[in-house]
Amino acid sequence: VAATRYDEIGLGYARTRRADPRLAAVIERGLGDARTVVNVGAGTGSYEPTDRYVIAIEPSDVMAAQRPAGLVPALRGRAGLLPLRDASLDAAMAVLSVHHWDEETEHGVRELRRVARGPVVIVTFDVEVCARMWLAADYLPEVTATDRRTFPSPEQLAEWLGGRTRVERWPIPRDCSDWTFASFWAHPERVLDERAAGATSGLARLDPAVRDRAMRALAGDLADGTWETRHGHLRGLDSYDAGLRVVINDPAGDA
Ligand SMILES: C[S@@+](CC[C@H](N)C(=O)[O-])C[C@H]1O[C@@H](n2cnc3c(N)ncnc32)[C@H](O)[C@@H]1O
Repeated sequence: VAATRYDEIGLGYARTRRADPRLAAVIERGLGDARTVVNVGAGTGSYEPTDRYVIAIEPSDVMAAQRPAGLVPALRGRAGLLPLRDASLDAAMAVLSVHHWDEETEHGVRELRRVARGPVVIVTFDVEVCARMWLAADYLPEVTATDRRTFPSPEQLAEWLGGRTRVERWPIPRDCSDWTFASFWAHPERVLDERAAGATSGLARLDPAVRDRAMRALAGDLADGTWETRHGHLRGLDSYDAGLRVVINDPAGDA
């Protein structure tokens, strides 16, 4: 089922999905002076603070097994049923996870708000912006179709969270160390690398026939210069807004 999807697609995640320190800094700022934090969908521990008291919640054993030794062990749990009391922590965070919560998405987001006294920080994508990136627009409209079903919009998240919400754009740097689907804006060659593609759910969840079709088309366009003609200008950019958003809901803040 959905909560253990990453038991199938999470193998090798830690290899290509390394936390980008610049995004980590935005998350850290969002968490403010919180001393106690719950990290939901904590995965391999990317972006998890190391200088605060953390409770990590993660349903997939395959992901939890890739957590570095220095981090707290992740409790086996899920967003829809957080084993925590109301307002029992200073802050809650969920990084690139909410779109996997399926039928418990709304409830899980409300759970984040329920258990935290202070900020809730959610890192997610604005699907309509991501849809314009060449990989989705030219090769994989199927990814956008799935994303539209699974990603709540930033506005929807704000409504579920209630109160004051601030949404920060985070243009993805060319040298981003966290190889998400959207980070491929700058690296078409990387899409053809199975280890890179396999650790992004957007590609890993595709019907293999669809993925093969897209890979063949992209390989052809790279070989004959079509990609370069259409998108080569991107090679000159340092960063690009591929839809990554940091949603910060803070009862005490000035959002
Ligand atoms: C793309 S990974 C992100 C992991 C980590 N937060 C990071 O930034 O690298 C998504 C994570 O959400 C977890 N997840 C899936 N369904 C979940 C649910 N219902 N509740 C909590 N986490 C869930 C997955 O097992 C996976 O570890």
